[in-house]
Amino acid sequence: MKIGMLTGGGDCPGLNAVIRAAVRKGVQVHGHEFIGFRDGWRGPLEDDTCSLTVDDVRGILPRGGTILGSSRTNPFAIDGGVESIVATLQRHGVDALVAIGGEDTLGVATRLAEHGVRVVGVPKTIDNDLSGTDFTFGFDTAVNIATEAIDRLHTTAESHHRVLVVEVMGRHAGWIALHAGLAGGANILLIPERPFDIDEVCAQVESRFATRFAPIVVVSEGARPMSRPGPGTPAGPGEGGDMTLQSGDTDAFGHVRLGGIGDRLAQEIEDRTGKEARAVVLGHVQRGGTPTAFDRWLATRFGLHAIQAVHEQEFGIMVALRGTDIVRVPLSEGTDHLKTVPDALYDEASALLG
Ligand code: F6P
Repeated sequence: MKIGMLTGGGDCPGLNAVIRAAVRKGVQVHGHEFIGFRDGWRGPLEDDTCSLTVDDVRGILPRGGTILGSSRTNPFAIDGGVESIVATLQRHGVDALVAIGGEDTLGVATRLAEHGVRVVGVPKTIDNDLSGTDFTFGFDTAVNIATEAIDRLHTTAESHHRVLVVEVMGRHAGWIALHAGLAGGANILLIPERPFDIDEVCAQVESRFATRFAPIVVVSEGARPMSRPGPGTPAGPGEGGDMTLQSGDTDAFGHVRLGGIGDRLAQEIEDRTGKEARAVVLGHVQRGGTPTAFDRWLATRFGLHAIQAVHEQEFGIMVALRGTDIVRVPLSEGTDHLKTVPDALYDEASALLG
């Protein structure tokens, strides 16, 4: 068989481990041939390909990023996009496609499968918000990077009696904030799933200072304050009132570019409490560099199992982690809805907050 492979969406540590494992098993165990498509769905859309032999994947296991490149190209937002992809696959004699990506890339894969494309999905995102799998690779690396940052910020915050606000990634889900916040001993944890009350945040800041320690606030980039209740209406999730939380730019899948909650929150805390507050935005540092051992292990197993599924001609599925087993689930199971932090997990963590 000739197998095409692409990586789409935000890059993530472990992508190269998937590619390496899939190519090595596909070629050496099953005798298949591979072709790489550059920059996610842009590759098959514009017929931009690269060689993908066993030699091409040597030495890439610990390397961050993706040797195939990535983009957020959405073929369904382009006139004739699907037809161009199908034509490219036919032109190169591609029998099956392995698409490695998050909700958007696998969402496209799900729809292409309905158009007859033989595709197997591999779930990736540092946000860990894909359903159908216990974990996505890249998440563990991001959590470790954020935890190390929080550890370092504790001592400097205490020396200067400052509030330090750490903004981590997580557009719709607070998994990175929750895990890194717990591992790093954060005092205040703000996630997209639970709109926060700024008065409560300030009260927690004051109570932490009363212990002679300095507060560390961990906030997901997608966290939002509660809307201010009007007369007779209860408080609810808000768009941030007068807080500037997004640039207005959107990507090809309609996601707004986030950023700014950390700085705005630090300013608000300083204005309301009179305590000096600074923000640290971890941003793309969380996505770059070498994957942890866990992410290499998970990504490698995903690659091995994805090729096994292709070899057995089981398409329209995604490989997934359940406990310590790798299973196959329908692609739609991963993309139908996002996996967000359940209330019970946040409530469990709240015993250590404040
Ligand atoms: O989806 C992964 C992610 O890192 C999100 O946490 C973040 O909101 C987004 O990608 C940022 O995307 P980019 O840097 O590609 O604009």
